[in-house]
Parts: sequence; structure tokens; C-alpha cells
Amino acid sequence: MYIKITFSKSNKIIDTIPGSTLLQILRHNNIFIPSPCGGNALCGGCRVKITKGNDLMDISAEEYDKLSDEEIKRNFRLSCSYIPKEDIIVEI
Ligand code: FES
Repeated sequence: MYIKITFSKSNKIIDTIPGSTLLQILRHNNIFIPSPCGGNALCGGCRVKITKGNDLMDISAEEYDKLSDEEIKRNFRLSCSYIPKEDIIVEI
């Protein structure tokens, strides 16, 4: 089963097998976003907004630590912690 990752600003679409973090998916497809801590959920620099398909039930402790309540309400995720499980739209 593949899931579809759509990038709203570029209209680029990636089909991928679920199981990787969003940051790993981005890197694998040569899409680079800031990740100062190297994807270790320490800096918060890899935050992205998920405009469709965000499952708030799976937010990690690291995301609660690095994202504000307002960011969580507005569907921001840490791409190095977030593992998409269904089709999503990312605002990058
Ligand atoms: S790359 Fe630092 S928190 Fe994700």
C-alpha cells in the first residue's frame, strides 16, 4: 500500500510506502528543509504544517516538547518525528 504526500506550494506529489518519518521521505526525494539537529527531535527546526491528513493522536513526546500548543492546534508537526500513515498534504 502506498500513501500520497502532496506538497501544496510546489504541487509535487510523492507516492511512498508508509513507515518512514516525513523527514526521511523528504530527504529520499531530494527535498531539503532545515534540520539543524540532524533529525534527532532536539531543535524543532524541521516543523512543517500538515494541511490535510494529520492524525493528532500520534503526536510524540518530542513534538509536544518542541511545538507550542498553538502550533499543534494549527497542525504543525516535527518532520523528523512524524510518520505519515495516510495521504497527507504538507505546506512546503
Ligand atoms: S531536525 Fe531537529 S527537531 Fe527535527
